Amino acid sequence: MKTSIETTEWAIWGGFVAFVMLLSWQFGLAVGLAVSLTIPFVIMLKNDYLRRKHGWKSEYSVGVAILDDDHKKLLDMVWRVYQSMQKSYGKEDAEQVLGELQAYTIEHFGREEGLMRKHGYPELERHLAEHEAMKAKVVEFKSHFATNSLEVSHQMLRFLENWLITHITKTDQAYSAFLTEKGER
Ligand SMILES: [Fe+2]
Repeated sequence: MKTSIETTEWAIWGGFVAFVMLLSWQFGLAVGLAVSLTIPFVIMLKNDYLRRKHGWKSEYSVGVAILDDDHKKLLDMVWRVYQSMQKSYGKEDAEQVLGELQAYTIEHFGREEGLMRKHGYPELERHLAEHEAMKAKVVEFKSHFATNSLEVSHQMLRFLENWLITHITKTDQAYSAFLTEKGER
């Protein structure tokens, strides 16, 4: 059963306030205040660390700004799917982000393929085959996600993320020197 975002967040915050009040009552106001300030700070640090861990890094660069921006956005979308899946909002939110990820994957591949075609990249056919495989994986993941548990879906998402990073750092970076030599930046 789907629980609305508002209901879930109110329940979390309500529980948190009750917890802090209980601590204050048991151990004094200073402890209650210290805990109430520390916990959200630790959660924020953890989220920031995970976001950077899963996000785009300079070593992923292909040397062409518009394609790097696409890769940043794609990895950010994967991160957003992770986040949606971790919160108990139901599957609808994750499905919506997955839909956006699918649409943006297609848009990005079109842009990348356009540049490779324009300059006659010799490895185009092999690259296209990888893009087709990735598109099929996203479709498979979407239908799998609709009918399977979050745990299995989480494993598939990890696979998808690893696939994307491997594609960027191997197959995409292979065109980097070729495209920059042709004047693409
Ligand atoms: Fe690519």
